[in-house]
Amino acid sequence: MPVQPVVRIGTPSLREKSLPIEPNDFGSPWLLNLVQDLWDSKEHYGGVGIAAPQIGINRRVVVFGFEQTERYQNVDPIPFTVLCNPEIKILDATEINAYEGCLSVGELRGEVPRPKAIAYIGFDEHGQKIEREVSDFHARLVFHEVDHIDGIIFIDRMKNIRTLGYYQR
Ligand code: NI
Repeated sequence: MPVQPVVRIGTPSLREKSLPIEPNDFGSPWLLNLVQDLWDSKEHYGGVGIAAPQIGINRRVVVFGFEQTERYQNVDPIPFTVLCNPEIKILDATEINAYEGCLSVGELRGEVPRPKAIAYIGFDEHGQKIEREVSDFHARLVFHEVDHIDGIIFIDRMKNIRTLGYYQR
């Protein structure tokens, strides 16, 4: 299956907590297809990451990564990564403010505080464990995507709603 339509805010399923990937889902055609749809959709819409609920599948899978992106300036590349059943541990709770956008929100962006550094752990689509310690934009991106599988949108995390606005290209 190819590019899927993006579920936008206002759709109740985007606000649900997604179900985990079960052990026998790893390596299955169903999961491999879902992950491919996520990559295809992310690529098509020009995102830096996308979560399964954003294409209408309420399961705990996110994909992210890029070599370069036009959506965000001055950010280092992030390896292309599939994370199933991700868990996050905050390593440095210092709040860093930066603008975020979201394929499910559209052109609106807003300033969101996120922890400076996190550790994340999860599994790729074959069940291979992934464990990393990251900071700054990489931490922000993973936090944003993992929020999606808990039904949380970046706007929920904003502390200064007055920063919400349309991106000026
Ligand atoms: Ni998003």
